[in-house]
Amino acid sequence: MTTAALPRTAPSRTAPPAARTAAVIPAAGRGVRLGPGAPKALRALGGTPLLVHAVRAVARAREVGLVVVVAPPQAAAEVRHLLDAHPLPAAPAAQGADVVVVPGGATRQESVRRGLDALPGEVEIVLVHDAARPLVPADTVDAVAAAVRAGAPAVVPALPLTDTVKEVEPQAAGAPEPVISTPARARLRAVQTPQGFQRAVLAEAHAAFAGAGEGATDDAGMVERLGQPVVVVPGHEEAFKVTRPLDLVLAEAVLTRRRADGY
Ligand code: CTP
Ligand code: MG
Repeated sequence: MTTAALPRTAPSRTAPPAARTAAVIPAAGRGVRLGPGAPKALRALGGTPLLVHAVRAVARAREVGLVVVVAPPQAAAEVRHLLDAHPLPAAPAAQGADVVVVPGGATRQESVRRGLDALPGEVEIVLVHDAARPLVPADTVDAVAAAVRAGAPAVVPALPLTDTVKEVEPQAAGAPEPVISTPARARLRAVQTPQGFQRAVLAEAHAAFAGAGEGATDDAGMVERLGQPVVVVPGHEEAFKVTRPLDLVLAEAVLTRRRADGY
């Protein structure tokens, strides 16, 4: 398997603030929980691949000058063609973000690391955004980027939980699971993406925990393990992750409503 970056557009060097902020979009997962079919990032939402929605959502943020898409390893060329066939709308303030495609790895953590490895030297702020969160509003992306720019090493959008959560002793499927504790719901948050980082902090976290176990599902958690502060800002209900078939039904409904509203 090659790890070389595929042909790409050179990162813009003419817009200094945007050149310093990049987004990494892990899109290399298979989408097992969504059921049989193409890799999740390539599945259609309103006739357009999830990944294209996600790339547009982060590229809409004024600050983002470069988007690194981490593609399923066997589909990197296909993803490149797909993104070329769905160009980004011209960004309002910048001249539009450049999009680079690199092949991903076996875990999300490994995929993100490969995306980080593809960033040019001048990038100082990195937003990591799941391809599986196609409908994140631009305001959420902007709020995360702004909090990092204001000095936070790591910023996570999150929402209060609606369900009460219990910690259990996991058992084989179907067997009753003893409850260990019930954390106070008011203190819990469900985290979303994009998560924003000072690039050096995230790179240090990935270097420190490379190859650890199953791989982290949350970049901010790795930064916490480094002992660096992580802060939460308000997330958005439309930034939900498409994980199971019902999530795709909800995403289609949100998109239909947006289109009816002329969004
Ligand atoms: N991801 C990745 N590389 C992997 C695994 C996951 O880039 N080896 C990405 C997915 O493409 C997704 C994001 O990480 O955008 C969040 O992961 P998840 O929702 O778990 O997606 P999948 O791993 O594809 O889904 P599943 O776990 O159901 O197979
Ligand atoms: Mg997964």
